[in-house]
Amino acid sequence: MPTIEKDFRRSVVYQIYVKSFCDSNGDGLGDLPGITRKLDYLAHLGVDYLWLTPFYPSPQKDNGYDVSDYCAVDPRYGTMDDFDELVAAARERGIGIMLDMVLCHTSTEHEWFRQACSGEERYQAYYILRDGRGSAGPGDPGEPPTNWECAFGGSAWEWEPRLGKWYLHMHDASQPDLDWTNPEVREACADVVRFWRERGVTGFRFDVINLISKPEVIEDVPGPGAACRSLVADGPHVHEYLRELVERSGIDGMITVGEMASTDLANCVRYTRPDDHELSMSFSFHHLKVDYAGGDKWALAEPDIVELREVLREWQEGMQDGGGWNALFWDNHDQPRAITRFGGRGGVGERGGSWDLVGKMLSTMSFLMKGTPYVFEGDELGMTNAGYDSIEKYDDVESKNAYRMLLGRGSTPDEALRVMGERSRDNGRTPMQWTAGPGAGFTTGEPWLGVSANHEQVNAEAEVGVEGSMFEWYRGLIALRHTSDVVALGDVRFLDAGSAAPKVIAFERTLGEKRLVVACSFDDEPCELTDLGTDDMTVLLGNYADCPAEGVLRPYEAVAWSR
Ligand code: NOJ
Repeated sequence: MPTIEKDFRRSVVYQIYVKSFCDSNGDGLGDLPGITRKLDYLAHLGVDYLWLTPFYPSPQKDNGYDVSDYCAVDPRYGTMDDFDELVAAARERGIGIMLDMVLCHTSTEHEWFRQACSGEERYQAYYILRDGRGSAGPGDPGEPPTNWECAFGGSAWEWEPRLGKWYLHMHDASQPDLDWTNPEVREACADVVRFWRERGVTGFRFDVINLISKPEVIEDVPGPGAACRSLVADGPHVHEYLRELVERSGIDGMITVGEMASTDLANCVRYTRPDDHELSMSFSFHHLKVDYAGGDKWALAEPDIVELREVLREWQEGMQDGGGWNALFWDNHDQPRAITRFGGRGGVGERGGSWDLVGKMLSTMSFLMKGTPYVFEGDELGMTNAGYDSIEKYDDVESKNAYRMLLGRGSTPDEALRVMGERSRDNGRTPMQWTAGPGAGFTTGEPWLGVSANHEQVNAEAEVGVEGSMFEWYRGLIALRHTSDVVALGDVRFLDAGSAAPKVIAFERTLGEKRLVVACSFDDEPCELTDLGTDDMTVLLGNYADCPAEGVLRPYEAVAWSR
């Protein structure tokens, strides 16, 4: 069997949200055999690795990020034989498999938590348990130990009568956080990673891994309890725990990516500097908060492109200067679709409409910046937000909580629904659009989550092999990542597009004599561009059919010049 040894700096990762990718047995849920069935499609697209979201046994309170058994396959998604077959079939096509490791918390249904609840002290020491504030004694919960709030709204503490304690959960109450100060927990987590490595997995994505090291003293945060997230992020022992995990599980040198919540640049440099032997690269999210009014995810605002540029510049140049490495992405299963977010609502499915231009402009940016690009399933087709017309169509725990919270704050149901339409994680989780037919060709049954109405225009069947389609655009970008040294390895520096182009983000990549200049407009009006020094350069690619007029970028135009 060919081995998968690729330079992650030249690679492209494709994220598969297993539940929504391809259903092989008509039960409405995507599954592992479904992925195997689509490997030729993925090989044709040209991607190097597939990151699979969790398919382990789980009560599905958070769609599999609540794991009840780390070393098994949930029968909903197939069998261990199906998994082995997928790994082997992907390998034959030169594609590696990356698995999602959810090691910051388990499900309350995990054996460890069950044992803890049945009185096993050994397993009680796996979790973060505290007495209540103002408790009158055993059996009296009192109040939660601190004012911390979990990511999905409400207290980050849950009273468990069988324990006679509160347990900490940074996410849903069904996701108790593990206590990484316990060496046995760290060893058990390394065993999980080793288990999958030994089954032929070639890389890993670590879920909220920068939240594993809690502050030495767990106490109230000043102001709103949601601020506990920044307090817990990048905690005192996180680098040490990560190095230990990587070493013990034997994955140093494999492609790895950490999901870093509320992180900062200095820590991400440390997570990803090769000499530190932690991870290959990190995901940060600051660039996807530029449309949160006042920093509130559930308050709508237009994306602030000046801020977006500044965040990207800081992370691109800062990671480079520190010797770190970025994962590049716009979409994933926790984000609304970027095409909708950044203005591509017009002419869905039509070449030359804002949908087409925005999708191609965004992918040009993420593929030509410095780092490793990630394609989230359906990006390559130009998939957009779900467009659901009722709250009943949503499934996600975070979205349902947020909807209730918005009503509680005084929003009308219509207003709250509008916010969901823009911000719900389900916007990124709708079934993959394979065809224009029923169930978008994702399932022959009833899909677990409604398909987006635009699957009739936006789908693989309509795009693969069609000149000028989004799919063929992505194929071209992926090929460029593989063949161009300056794209994969060149230095990056952001350029000033000029005061008449505040919504244009421009940067250059250089390697020896090679120079690439990229300009991407987020403006829906034409704008004048300052001289970016491209006179002696030729247009390498652009998302309009003709070349740009000198000094002008049209709405949502993306151009790359090379020399
Ligand atoms: C990040 C995952 O991407 C998200 O889907 C999940 O809800 C949280 N981590 C908790 O595991």
